[in-house]
Amino acid sequence: MEVVVHSTYDEMSAAAAKEVAKLLNTKPNAVLGLATGSTPLALYKELIRMHKHEGLDFTQVTTFNLDEYCGLSADHEQSYHYFMRENLFKHINIPLQNTHVPSGTTRNHEAFCAWYENRIKECGGIDIQILGIGSDGHIAFNEPGSSLGSRTRIKTLAKVTIDDNARFFDKPEDVPIYAITMGVGTILEARKLVLVANGESKADAIAAAIEGSVTSMITASALQLHPDSVIFLDDAAASKLKLREYYDWIQANKPGAPRPE
Ligand code: GLP
Repeated sequence: MEVVVHSTYDEMSAAAAKEVAKLLNTKPNAVLGLATGSTPLALYKELIRMHKHEGLDFTQVTTFNLDEYCGLSADHEQSYHYFMRENLFKHINIPLQNTHVPSGTTRNHEAFCAWYENRIKECGGIDIQILGIGSDGHIAFNEPGSSLGSRTRIKTLAKVTIDDNARFFDKPEDVPIYAITMGVGTILEARKLVLVANGESKADAIAAAIEGSVTSMITASALQLHPDSVIFLDDAAASKLKLREYYDWIQANKPGAPRPE
């Protein structure tokens, strides 16, 4: 697990976007796993900039989103379908039929979730999965207690997540309490994981995920089990890491890097 700390949110986001660009430049038909939330917004802006100014091409790319609220249609402004269209898809040249976001309106959750898992396999599996982290340490909507082997399924959201999301809805009773989410086991099958986190409000969850035990109580700690995961942080999100200096030292002394005179 690599921990990369940048001083600002923009620098952190640009570094994470570079990982995606590096993949697309070597594998133009890559499969990307995408996340929603405020954290990946600047990463998506940077991908859009690279598309517009550096020719980053998405015509052969396939995407799978981590999750969607149950009960919200694709045109609801708080749905993750809407988020992805507004913040990424409509600004790049990806064919919309190549994009997948779990259905917020399916009545047959079990069949839909099995289809979603199968579709990921049919497309060859996810090359890079982008992740954020919830303040309770969740990835996607895998709330505390979610099995580290869990698969795509319907999940009841934790109170803290419902409260975190309340700011986006007019009335508290409008905040969805269920979501369809990829499982931790599904996420761990991606070939590479890239988690982004910024701000002090994430510092505790980040410290627990990186330096705590692997536990279903902090599902982001499952990244410790993955052979190729990178966590991009800003200074504030990294502020509670005990080994912060060590991570910086590793970055400055990667194998193959020129040794200082
Ligand atoms: C939701 C999403 C997660 C996301 C989290 C954090 O719970 N399901 O995928 O990581 O929010 O969101 P933000 O980046 O806005 O803090």
